[in-house]
Amino acid sequence: MTTDVMISANALSKRFGSTRALDKVSFEVRRGEVVGFLGPNGAGKSTTMRILTCYISPSTGTAKVHGHDVFDDPLAVRKTLGYLPQRAPLYTDMNVYEYLQFAAQIRGLDDGTFKHRLKKVVEVCGLAQSLGKTISTLSHGFRQRVGLGQALIHDPPILILDEPTSDLDPNEKAEVLKYIKEIGKDRTILLSTHNLGEVEEACARAIIVSKGRVVADGQLDDIRAKTGRVRYVVTIDETRAEAGNKPPKALEIEEALGRLGGASAIRELPTDETAHKFELSGAQDSDLRAEIFRLVVARNWTLLELRRDAQSLDAVFRDLTRGDERADRGGDWEDDSDEDESDEEESDEEESDDESDDSDEEESDDQSDDEDDEDDEDDEDDDEPSERKKK
Ligand SMILES: Nc1ncnc2c1ncn2[C@@H]1O[C@H](COP(=O)(O)OP(=O)(O)OP(=O)(O)O)[C@@H](O)[C@H]1O
Ligand SMILES: [Mg+2]
Repeated sequence: MTTDVMISANALSKRFGSTRALDKVSFEVRRGEVVGFLGPNGAGKSTTMRILTCYISPSTGTAKVHGHDVFDDPLAVRKTLGYLPQRAPLYTDMNVYEYLQFAAQIRGLDDGTFKHRLKKVVEVCGLAQSLGKTISTLSHGFRQRVGLGQALIHDPPILILDEPTSDLDPNEKAEVLKYIKEIGKDRTILLSTHNLGEVEEACARAIIVSKGRVVADGQLDDIRAKTGRVRYVVTIDETRAEAGNKPPKALEIEEALGRLGGASAIRELPTDETAHKFELSGAQDSDLRAEIFRLVVARNWTLLELRRDAQSLDAVFRDLTRGDERADRGGDWEDDSDEDESDEEESDEEESDDESDDSDEEESDDQSDDEDDEDDEDDEDDDEPSERKKK
């Protein structure tokens, strides 16, 4: 029945002291889906992923991965997962080969399987020339590649990748995205990124979170249509016009477009010195192309491009997450703090010995890489004790 559901988050909430990081986040990811997990800084992407990978427990709510509860059966969950944390913690005194071999061993791979997988991982992550290098000597982007390598080495059915391409160069980014698309055909991948182009490239579906809540979840086309508008791009020659007329100035075009009924949000887009390019928005069921064409002919301008698409994902993202942006820039910070019931203020920093609670398991087993978890892994058990009780 629901066996196809590989990841399910059910009303996950998470508080860190007075900060509400997640607020009833629910979604499902099915076998074979590659889902982009989007949201501005601080929206709760990494927190959700860390719950799904058993690094931290939710304050309330439940989650299952491959049918196993992350709270009751963390080992079973971890066995099915490949996880790349946002800042991949690595054993920096090992060389890359040793580290990947170690990652494979704790995943229970025999030597033959490891060598076979290593070949693929080296190819995908571009690690051929780094295998013998000590991790501490690698650049940030190469460390990211090693982190991705350990997430892929055991060829897991489910991958949770927290900004897998953030520090990669464009060639490597393209390579990794290509691979994600390829393996996503029969695996389940949840990947967070800020790069909407990457989502469009690798994912058919996206989940957008904002301030700890899911604000959109669906196929990219449906999400694009969410604001209910379409976008037009009009490009007009800046150097010449028809019938011996003078070429138009940008302002003239802008004003003329502005007089079209139903056109709004007109703005000029950057181009070279040969063309004026404008973007405008219209109601979803409108089609202004014929009118734009007639306007251009009437003025004897030379039309170089006329396009009508669904609103860009980028624009939808900005629309849906504008609240976060305003809050970050000081817009409604007072409201925000009020919203959180004022339990132990600032306590999140001090409670790290609260180890009796749920979060002890996070350091416990196979994620070898917890080792030098810079800042955030070590203060995560600072959250208030989970309301969930182990059965
Ligand atoms: N260990 C922690 N202690 C206290 N607060 C935390 C902790 N981890 C996360 N938070 C807070 O929870 C909220 C969500 O953080 P999270 O890291 O999940 O965001 P994100 O969507 O991954 O952001 P980014 O895009 O910047 O990676 C933020 O307000 C963050 O400050
Ligand atoms: Mg994050």
